[in-house]
Amino acid sequence: MWNTWLTRTLNIDLPILGAPMGGRAGGELAGQVTAAGGLGMIGAARYATPPWLAEQAELVRAAAGPEAPFAFGLMTWSLDQDDALLDAVLAYSPKLISLSFGDPAPYVPRAKDAGAVVISQINSLEDLRVVEAAGVDAVVAQGGEAGGHTGRIATLPLLQEVVRATDLPVLAAGGIGTGAGLAAVLAAGAHGALLGTALLASPETVGPDYAIKVLLEAGSADTVYTDVFDKARHQPWPTRWFGRALTNDFTAQWHDGDGVAPSSGSEEEISGAYDGADPSVGVVYAGQAAGLVDSIRPAGEVVRTIAADAEQRLRAVAGVLS
Ligand SMILES: Cc1cc2nc3c(=O)[nH]c(=O)nc-3n(C[C@H](O)[C@H](O)[C@H](O)COP(=O)(O)O)c2cc1C
Repeated sequence: MWNTWLTRTLNIDLPILGAPMGGRAGGELAGQVTAAGGLGMIGAARYATPPWLAEQAELVRAAAGPEAPFAFGLMTWSLDQDDALLDAVLAYSPKLISLSFGDPAPYVPRAKDAGAVVISQINSLEDLRVVEAAGVDAVVAQGGEAGGHTGRIATLPLLQEVVRATDLPVLAAGGIGTGAGLAAVLAAGAHGALLGTALLASPETVGPDYAIKVLLEAGSADTVYTDVFDKARHQPWPTRWFGRALTNDFTAQWHDGDGVAPSSGSEEEISGAYDGADPSVGVVYAGQAAGLVDSIRPAGEVVRTIAADAEQRLRAVAGVLS
């Protein structure tokens, strides 16, 4: 039986959250993670609409029961432009909301008033101070090996410095693809983990047809930290966050940055060359845990296996001490 801040606070069995993944994690994936004993988050992308949210809520209920809790992940910087999406998700009285990539201060009181536990993914100690001041309930140390938009410091060094620097509960995200990874971050002081890439070969994901196939073929070295897909798809991400995606013909042609500086091609040029329907061109955001994903498996099975394996490892690791 698991007993961490995360399992106690959310009253869930496993110290696992399904990562909010815009364009890939809808209600079916989130519901399956929840049904397995974790809590699945719906990735509410900037362009999510109230009718889409209603459909996802139905899918959560279908997977995890009529009383299933909801959890959503939003991008804070996009709320700064239009915060209607926050009210739209709070209408579902979510148990948890993730406000990441930006200063959540203007939004935390509303989310808490609606009864949600508020977490924020952070990528540096400077981010930690910002979200602490905003009053979040817990922070997620999101390492640069994570899929999707992320920072530049790797999970393990970031987790260690964040755990040392805060009294808030800390969760970990980025590169956790097996029970060994979950056990490692829990041993390092995390109260739970977000799984993103590990769930991306699950049939409950949404997204382009080719996404699962190319993920299964990819190894841990086949990702790139890049801004080319933001330019290609006119996504106005602040440039301090690039996205980690699988390499393909498009990144070979257009990604000429070093993962710190932007790629040199203009948005007009790059978007003109983009075709999301073409599997050798379209974006598949995924992290370095891609190398650990080698079969199509239901999300519930992935979550249960990772938790069971982590439990075994944590029990066994006590044996390293005499
Ligand atoms: C396809 C994809 C889309 C993502 N979209 C979002 C998002 O919309 N909001 C967010 O907060 N994080 C997003 N992320 C980041 C995840 O929340 C999480 O930090 C990451 O998946 C953890 O690392 P992992 O992929 O190695 O498990 C996304 C990740 C992926 C792989």
